[in-house]
Amino acid sequence: MGLKNKDLISVHDLSVGEVATILDVAAKLKRKQKAGEPHEYCKGKTLVMIFSKASTRTRVSFETGFHQLGGHPIYLSDQASQIGRGEPVRDTARVLSRMVDGIMIRTFSHESVLELAKYASIPVINGLTDLLHPCQALTDLFTIQEHQKVLKGRKLVFVGDGNNMAHSLMFACAKVGMHMVCASPKGYQPNPHIVKQAQEDAKLTGASITVEEDLLTAAKGADILYTDVWASMGQEDERAERIKALGGYQINQKLLDVARPECIVLHCLPAHRGEEITEDVIEGPHSVVFDQAENRLHVQKAIMALLMSDERL
Ligand code: CP
Ligand code: NVA
Repeated sequence: MGLKNKDLISVHDLSVGEVATILDVAAKLKRKQKAGEPHEYCKGKTLVMIFSKASTRTRVSFETGFHQLGGHPIYLSDQASQIGRGEPVRDTARVLSRMVDGIMIRTFSHESVLELAKYASIPVINGLTDLLHPCQALTDLFTIQEHQKVLKGRKLVFVGDGNNMAHSLMFACAKVGMHMVCASPKGYQPNPHIVKQAQEDAKLTGASITVEEDLLTAAKGADILYTDVWASMGQEDERAERIKALGGYQINQKLLDVARPECIVLHCLPAHRGEEITEDVIEGPHSVVFDQAENRLHVQKAIMALLMSDERL
């Protein structure tokens, strides 16, 4: 059992069956890890992790996860490698392909990741670009499944900036038959090309993907409320104008009141309390953000094992 593509760049590239496989393998690996059972599916392999942006969860979950799979992770920052000094992506891709077994990359430009994958003969995993955050969105499906059992038919309302997180959640919801509403103000709505692609994917599963400006209308009957920061990494200069434009788009008690009583609240983290989410909600009984953060470990282990292991999983 593996995945048909060499790389994991976008949830859009996965089949409906492959998304289910990732969730199943993640559940199996989580069980094994909790039971203390060995699961060294990548024994003897090496993974390079390239970070051009900051990270807490992504770095620690990939590094720990690959170690738990029996492999050796190497951290490369822009500053401490030739990447930051302008070595072409296609050269990095070919050099690393001759030395290691896989690459995880977090960077700004999505095109750079596509180029890296094109020139690398080894698997490339997207650990976030300005456009997408697929490992987080797959983790979010896993977390929703843990808490709400069934994914199909659930309503997920994304609140705020139609950013990388919103884009990957659209693809993820489309693959599992969920109904996603992206509630964002004009000027901060998701990329229409991504919305269209996700709506095409949605036809296969009976999912629906929509964009709505009115937050309270969007949040009615939500099974999941999800938000992310108003200013993403690389948008620090736009912070003041974003706070103004996205100001009302917050998960708070008033919003929870129009959602379903058993609604769960997700946030990819890091969170800005008092901006996109209130302190009482993120610390309250509906919030499962720390289960969500932990699950990055288990889901990414599944992705790495499926892409890089020589063993049957
Ligand atoms: N959610 C997430 O990707 O967190 P980090 O930026 O800490 O990796
Ligand atoms: N949208 C955020 C996600 C961080 C995990 C960013 O790109 O900074």
